[in-house]
Amino acid sequence: MAEEKDFESMEERGKDTTVNSATDEKSVGGLERVLKALRKSVVGKRKVIREEAESPKGPVGLDIGTTHIVLAQNKPNYIETIQDLNAFFTVPSARFAEQILNQKEVMYYRHENQYYIIGYSAEGFANMFHGNTRRPVKEGLLSPDEVEGLSVIKAIVNGLIEKPKKFGEMLCFIIPGEPLDGTGSVIYHESVIKSFLGSLGYSPLSINEGMAVVVSELSEDDFTGIGISMGGGMCNVCLSYLSFPVITYSIQKGGDYIDTMVGAAVGEPATKVKTIKEEELDFSREPKDRVGIALGIFYDELILKLLESLQRVLSSTGKIPKIKTPIPIVLSGGTAMPKGFKEKFEKLLKNVNLPVEISAVRLAEDLLNAPAKGALATAIREAG
Ligand SMILES: Nc1ncnc2c1ncn2[C@@H]1O[C@H](COP(=O)(O)OP(=O)(O)OP(=O)(O)O)[C@@H](O)[C@H]1O
Ligand SMILES: [Mg+2]
Repeated sequence: MAEEKDFESMEERGKDTTVNSATDEKSVGGLERVLKALRKSVVGKRKVIREEAESPKGPVGLDIGTTHIVLAQNKPNYIETIQDLNAFFTVPSARFAEQILNQKEVMYYRHENQYYIIGYSAEGFANMFHGNTRRPVKEGLLSPDEVEGLSVIKAIVNGLIEKPKKFGEMLCFIIPGEPLDGTGSVIYHESVIKSFLGSLGYSPLSINEGMAVVVSELSEDDFTGIGISMGGGMCNVCLSYLSFPVITYSIQKGGDYIDTMVGAAVGEPATKVKTIKEEELDFSREPKDRVGIALGIFYDELILKLLESLQRVLSSTGKIPKIKTPIPIVLSGGTAMPKGFKEKFEKLLKNVNLPVEISAVRLAEDLLNAPAKGALATAIREAG
């Protein structure tokens, strides 16, 4: 179900409410701090295996996604993000193997006679054993198929951050919107993650993924527009008006769906398709083989599904504020990364009739890290 907020009188309240809504009635200084942080560029890095986890000083943003876990912190001249893979691989435990794992500096923990190899280390092992990594999060939500899922997430997060320097430090984490086409429980997902982060010594607060994209990218548009994050397991959508998330929802299809569908169509493993997609896909050129053709077809299908859902949700609600000026759409997430993606999206957008006028389609400055940056900005705002 799409979530709607009642904002009938918002147009009357007008733009003067922006500051208060964005700062939760805390000082304008709070908003200034947020805007200052948002103007900084993101310097992103991959988690280096066995690199010591940091004990953060200041507010933190955290995005636990289907494919990646991203941590964002506010440094003096830039936003620092560290990213690990949200994946694991198990091998039977043995004394001999433990020595090798330690020597090779692999991230793992032991549970019931199994080594749980986690994060980027899991990818290497899966390739070595010709297997697939397993995922604690499936289609955006804690996977019901993985009993150890939450423990794996805890171990990966603990590899990125320790307890904060100051007890009760503000941490804002990403949650998905309610799926339109699924039965997954966002409340369960949010509650267990919140409780874990609280036990680490943070004051955890959640933000919708699409809204986090709006916060990250639309500060110069009064936080008004449609934020979309197209990730590994989901597409998350938020229509925000003057920083209020008026409509939020998700569809449980993303990059994984494309990999699976293309793999099934051309008879290749989904993991191989994923590698080709990430390394070679370019929509500004004619596809050169069957995989390229199939990737184009399923990308079109996913974007059309997303746009049709947007049309349906926006048309079926009476809650859209009467926005007089056209609003932007901002796209983020790893699935929006191929060259020519924005042009493809714009072309397909012409086929749907949305009840709001769109001024422009933009790409987030840093596609993989935009939600974590938005979460960090929210944590800074809340910290006051
Ligand atoms: N260069 C690329 N070209 C195409 N797809 C890519 C590229 N890089 C990453 N991806 C895809 O992006 C997806 C991961 O994106 P992202 O990290 O935004 O997802 P996530 O936040 O972990 O998941 P979700 O938000 O769906 O829970 C994967 O499907 C991956 O294959
Ligand atoms: Mg995501």
